[in-house]
Formats: sequence, C-alpha cells, structure tokens
Amino acid sequence: MYKLLRSLLFRLDPETAHKLTLQLIRTAGMFPPSYLLLKLLYWAPRRPVQAFGISFRNPVGLAAGYDKDALAIRGLSALGFGHVEVGTVTPQPQPGNPRPRLFRLVEDQAIINRMGFPGMGSEVMLENLQQAQKGRFLRPKAVIGVNIGKNKDTPNEQAILDYLSLLQIFAPHAGYLAINISSPNTVGLRQLQGRTALEGLLSQLDIQRSMEERMLNKRVPLLVKLAPDLSESELDDAVDVILRTHMDGIIATNTTLARDGLASKHRGETGGLSGSPLRARSEAVLCQIVKRVNGKIPVVSVGGIMTPQDAQKRLDLGATLIQVYTGMVYQGPGLIKKIQVER
Ligand code: FNR
Repeated sequence: MYKLLRSLLFRLDPETAHKLTLQLIRTAGMFPPSYLLLKLLYWAPRRPVQAFGISFRNPVGLAAGYDKDALAIRGLSALGFGHVEVGTVTPQPQPGNPRPRLFRLVEDQAIINRMGFPGMGSEVMLENLQQAQKGRFLRPKAVIGVNIGKNKDTPNEQAILDYLSLLQIFAPHAGYLAINISSPNTVGLRQLQGRTALEGLLSQLDIQRSMEERMLNKRVPLLVKLAPDLSESELDDAVDVILRTHMDGIIATNTTLARDGLASKHRGETGGLSGSPLRARSEAVLCQIVKRVNGKIPVVSVGGIMTPQDAQKRLDLGATLIQVYTGMVYQGPGLIKKIQVER
C-alpha cells in the first residue's frame, strides 16, 4: 500500500510531501476511530527496553527533524514507535534556510537537507506537547524526547543560554532531552562538540538539570547528539566529556557532510546527507562509542537504518535504542512493525 502512496508523494516537491504526510498523521491521531485504526494496522508485539530510568515499549524511535514542532505525536505514537524525538526546537521561532532545502536522492536511497531549524519556537512546541498529553485514551504510549538547539542569531558564546532556557521549559514535559550540537545547517553549531566548548556547555546543563530534578521530583535524562564527521580523537574527546559531565546517553549520528559514491543528480547540494550512504559511517561511529563508554551509558544509534537487518545489526553492535528517519520516507511506516517482527 505504501508503494502506491509513495509514488504519489514522490511526485510532489519533498517539503510539500513531508508537510502533507505529517498533517495526515496528525489528523489521524486526533480522532478516536482513526487513532484506533492506525493502532490496529501497526500493532506489533512489545519488546520492552529500559534506558536512562525509562521504560520503552520497543527500541525503535523516530529521529529528530521529522516532527519539528510536536504537531503529530499522537499519530506517530500510534504507528508503533517506542519513542518519538520531536524538534529540534529553538527558543524563538525562526524561518530556517530559503527553499528549496530538502532533496530526495532516490537512486541512493538518501536525503540531503539544509533546513536550518525552521520551527515555531518553544512556546508553540510547549502548547503542542501539553495538548497531546491530555485525555487518557489518546495519550501517546511512545516516550517523547525533545531535541533542543540554539537559534541561528544566537552567537556560540551565548548558546548556553538558549540550551538552559529550553531545558527549563521542557524538563517537566519530556521523557528525555537531546542536546543537538551536531546539525551541519546552523553555522558554527558543530564547534560546540570541541572539548572546551562541550565541557562548558554540558557542565552547566548538568547543574541546571539537577535543580530541575529536585524541583520536579523526577529524572530528567540528558542525551547528546553527535555528528558522524568527527575524527577518531575528536569523538573520543567528546565521549570523555559526556561521561565526565554525567550525561545519560549519546545519540549517534546526525547527518553527514561526506558525499562518497553518490549517483543522484542532487548529490552536489549543500546540507546534511542521510539514509543508505550514511549506514557504514554510522555503524563505525557506534562501534567506537560503544567501546569508549564501556557500558557506562546507553547509546542510541541512528543513520542509514533502512531494513530490519540494519536495525538488528545496530542492536548487536551494542546500541540500546535505534532511530529512523530516511528509512521511514523510503519504506513507509510499516518499517517500524517490520523491525519488531522480522529482526
Ligand atoms: C534531520 N535530522 C535532524 N536531526 C536533529 O537532531 N535535528 C533536526 O532538526 C533534524 N532535522 C532533520 C531534517 C531532515 C529532513 C532529515 C532527513 C534529518 C537528522 C536525523 O535526526 C538523523 O540523525 C539523520 O537523518 C540520520 O538518520 P537516517 O535519516 O539516515 O535514518
């Protein structure tokens, strides 16, 4: 069925197709009959996982960037995800980069995006999250992670203020927070992964997190999302800082700037590449991180997971949770159920 829908969607420009799909999922999640239908269609056996003190009904999550403003979390949860990471949300609304900024590389089973964190900002995201948690029946069963980032206009020296304010706003409403310092589309953002900048940022967030936990009387897990383009020593440095500053987990990886072996006509577009071509690099980064953290904190693997076999491999390599984005665009939402059943 998705093949047919996909052939229609792929005739539209990618961003329009995405908006339409998200709107459909949002609408289906709003009404009990369509919500139930989605749940029935995408029902899969539970495969519970514990991580950062949270219980996930299965290890498969939706990666950040798909639902930037938390518009469709009820519908997305009904598709069977164990967790849905919304965002990246920035404190203030911002338009992102000029269009076109999203490209399908069909021959490569990939996407290039240079969205640049377009979004409605933290106030709207907060309302959407609160709205989605209302009502017992339609309340999402998926754990909701909130991925946070800085506004484009915020200089790196003040980025910490953006992250601190987002932590305060979303700590009461999120299952976990993901600190995004790895998107390639916000100038200078990736520099925050350097040892000194990272130590400054994460140690402050750790202090603020402890205060929030005392006030809210609940755990506020903090995860850090890393780029696939760090060198071995940069990655080791980042992991050491993450461990030293008491972070709860690592999400690896974001999109890549690499462009090896692509066939599609859009291969020269600027932005972050995701999907099949990212698979090998993401696996290698996962292996290095798993070795370095040595069981101290869980690792969430993302990047190029397109099949149940890809998913199983990540779990075998030591990931506790996995996430998909581009795989869902090419294979459809049935991929989540397939991963539970076939792997
Ligand atoms: C992303 N990704 C992303 N990541 C993030 O932390 N914040 C974001 O806002 C976005 N936005 C975004 C938009 C689009 C269009 C894509 C394709 C991706 C990255 C995403 O979460 C994931 O890390 C990568 O896409 C790699 O996974 P896949 O797509 O290969 O499964």
